Amino acid sequence: MKKIKIIKPDDFHIHLRQDELLNLTVPHCSESFARALIMPNTIPPIASVETLRQYRDEIAAKDKSFTPLMTFKLLKSLKKEDVLAMKEAGALAGKFYPAGSTTNSADGIKRWIEIKDLLKVMSDSGLILSIHGEDPSVFSLDREKAFIPQIEEISQEFPDLKIVFEHISSKEGVEAVENGSANLAGTITVQHLLMTLDNMIGGTLDPHSFCKPVLKSPVDRDSIQRVVLEGNSRFFFGSDSAPHLIQKKENSSGCAGCYTSPVALPLLVEFFEEHKKLDLLENFVSRFGAEFYGLPVNDDTITLEKTSWIIPDEFSGVKTLYSGRELKWKIK
Ligand code: DOR
Ligand code: ZN
Repeated sequence: MKKIKIIKPDDFHIHLRQDELLNLTVPHCSESFARALIMPNTIPPIASVETLRQYRDEIAAKDKSFTPLMTFKLLKSLKKEDVLAMKEAGALAGKFYPAGSTTNSADGIKRWIEIKDLLKVMSDSGLILSIHGEDPSVFSLDREKAFIPQIEEISQEFPDLKIVFEHISSKEGVEAVENGSANLAGTITVQHLLMTLDNMIGGTLDPHSFCKPVLKSPVDRDSIQRVVLEGNSRFFFGSDSAPHLIQKKENSSGCAGCYTSPVALPLLVEFFEEHKKLDLLENFVSRFGAEFYGLPVNDDTITLEKTSWIIPDEFSGVKTLYSGRELKWKIK
């Protein structure tokens, strides 16, 4: 049987949620990923040393072999000392959510200038800035494009600040990273790599592929595929796996977020294999992100076998992307 063995990957963008849901999300994540960058849009947000430590301990207690890499949410109310204290407590990155851009972001930032002092401290202390790059005041398909000037302004103001343009979904987003400074990188999710808006609304409505930023056109998806298949080291994997209970997705006011942790790695192997670029998989999932974040690559390895399996209809009340579909690769 055909097998593939690679350095155990990292997921540089994940929503693990809280309480009971951690019993589902942490084992699913740690099966494929040795480490993951944990998003802070919980309720209350991760925005203090206490909440950061408590959340990290709660996650770590679910699986001793898994390393949560912590972030905090940038809030207008934060002080420079708070940022430094969270760095001291182990935070790797601060997350900038434009106000109203996505799940639990009402307390976000209107424009980057509001947090200029905090960005200065982050730049000086070597914290990474992680950005949900969408301007929610414009038409939904144009939100990423409309946010790019803010990324360029931040990058010019703070040339030493490392910035991650998260979950790139558009051709313009791809090009902003390609043409930006060496301190700008982008994460890519499986849904934006593989799907277009037609997967969500081209036939019947699929609420389980609804996420922010929303899926876009074939031109946008092809542009994302291009940089991944070119092996561009400025683009690396961040799933944005974001579970919501089925009743919150299949709802007249459905929540944004695709749950992908259990299926992401098999889908990626399939993608690279189909494009005859399996040799580039390990860089995308296990090296480029670690290098950008200044971390060593993981010691562990993971093996996948070419065995077909069907994605279960649900996992404890949560549906993944592509539930019911056959996958070609399985984690051993
Ligand atoms: O679709 C999304 N869901 N995008 C985000 O940025 C946040 C996430 C969530 O937390 O549900
Ligand atoms: Zn996210």
